[in-house]
Order: sequence, then structure tokens, then C-alpha cells
Amino acid sequence: MTDIIIITGGSKGIGKALVEKYAQENYNVYSLARSIVNLENTTQISVDLSNLKETENSFLMLFDEFKKMQISSITLINNAGRLGTVSSLENIESEDIAKTIQLNTTTPLILSSLFIKHTKSLACKKQIISISSGAARSAYQGWSIYCTSKAAIDMMTKTIALEQSELKNGIKCMAIYPGVVDTNMQTQIRNTSENDFKNVDRFKELKTNNELYTSEFVANQIFKIDNEDLLENGDIIDIRNF
Ligand SMILES: NC(=O)c1ccc[n+]([C@@H]2O[C@H](COP(=O)([O-])OP(=O)(O)OC[C@H]3O[C@@H](n4cnc5c(N)ncnc54)[C@H](OP(=O)(O)O)[C@@H]3O)[C@@H](O)[C@H]2O)c1
Repeated sequence: MTDIIIITGGSKGIGKALVEKYAQENYNVYSLARSIVNLENTTQISVDLSNLKETENSFLMLFDEFKKMQISSITLINNAGRLGTVSSLENIESEDIAKTIQLNTTTPLILSSLFIKHTKSLACKKQIISISSGAARSAYQGWSIYCTSKAAIDMMTKTIALEQSELKNGIKCMAIYPGVVDTNMQTQIRNTSENDFKNVDRFKELKTNNELYTSEFVANQIFKIDNEDLLENGDIIDIRNF
């Protein structure tokens, strides 16, 4: 019997730390990202998750492989994400808007849809965990696309939870806000000009004062929350409250 976990964006930041933690805990780990990096005991699939066909094909190939396995639990973590251009909405190129919504919102919807469909006959523990953000609830000037994309993830979570709660072998669907985490995404935020992002100094201060979480801390917390079954279907939680 095997515990399967599929993590999008497992090559860097929070996703990489999650891959490493679950691999250490003897899960059968699959990471989907564009780059292949040094990761032990992990199957890495190189895929551009902002490309619909590539995304669909690689995910379906995985489920073909799973058919041969005796599965005791299966989890999808929707983690891959991008901030996109930070600036007032009128300054953001259409291409960039589309790319961010595709990666942060459309891809999790597609992967969740395929995941639900292809795990229907499994009676084991099944869950979808999405890495959302406080930006789903709080508007930040300059982050219109990112905030929108994460608010949609929260609504996706609630809707899937509602649909699945009616089923016998339903999936549990949750979203987690990881706090402010020391990754490339935060470097990009700190490098934004004050013209484009009025709050930039607050994020610079968090870094100077050593107040960012490490990806490893966040991954350990998520593993604990998952392993100890601390979440109910439909929960949207902030790691800072655990
Ligand atoms: N850091 C924070 O403070 C913070 C706060 C709240 C929420 N979050 C959320 O946490 C998640 C992870 O963020 P992070 O901070 O760890 O960011 P990160 O260090 O920039 O990592 C992003 C990950 O997404 C992957 N990715 C990006 N574009 C991709 C594409 N087109 N196709 C496939 N994979 C792609 C990257 O892999 P490749 O480059 O190899 O493709 C990388 O593994 C995101 O959903 C983010 O919104 C982060």
C-alpha cells in the first residue's frame, strides 16, 4: 500500500520543502514544475502548468501510472503560483494577467477536476489542499491579479467541499494561508518600486527583522496539520493560527 502526494511547484520555495518533508515521511511524491532539481525519492515531471494541454496530459499520465498501485491515501497540493506584475491594474499587460490567472486559478481548477474524476472509484483517504494567501481576503494596492486569483482559490475550495460532502467516498478539500515565507516570491515583492507597491517597506522590514517563516517551517506545519487530520472539509486556515 502506498500514500501518494502530488505537489505542483515542487522545485522551489514552499513546494520544494513540502516535497522534501513528505519524501522523508515515506510518501510516494510526485512534483510538477518547469525545472528539474536535486530532490531525493521524488518523481519529478517537467511541465509548464500555465499551458493547458501540457498540464492535462502530464496529469493524466500520472493517473495511468497510479492504476497499477495499491493506494492507501492520495493528496493533491495546489502550490505552484506566481505574483505576476505588481502595479495598478491599468499598468499590467493583458498577457501577464492571463498567465497569472491561468497558473494560480485555472490550473488548480483543472487539476482538481481531473483529480476528483480519476479518484472516484478509490475508497481511501483523498484530499485536495491548496496554498492560498491572506491576499485572498485583504486587498493590496498593486496586487489586483494575485488577490483575485487567490480569492478564487478560496471559493473553489468551498464549492468542492460542498459538492464532495454529499458523496460516500468524497474528497476533503482545504486551503491554507502559509504566512509570509522567505522564498523567491518575497524577493520579487521586496524588489518592487514604491510607485508600483505602496506597502513595499513593510515587506522589507519583515525581512530585516527576520520575521519571515522558512519554507521548511511551513512544510512541517502543513505535514503536521495533514498527518494529525486537524482540518475539516472546506476549512480555509492561516498557518499563523496553528
Ligand atoms: N512566499 C510567500 O510569502 C507566500 C505567501 C502566501 C502564499 N504563497 C503561495 O505559496 C505558493 C508557493 O509560493 P513560493 O513562495 O514558494 O514561490 P516560489 O518560490 O516562487 O515557487 C514557485 C513554484 O511554482 C513553480 N511554478 C511557477 N510557474 C510555473 C509554471 N508555469 N509551471 C510549473 N510550475 C511553475 C515554480 O517552479 P519552476 O520555476 O521550476 O516552474 C516553483 O516551484 C504560491 O501559490 C504562492 O502564491 C506564498
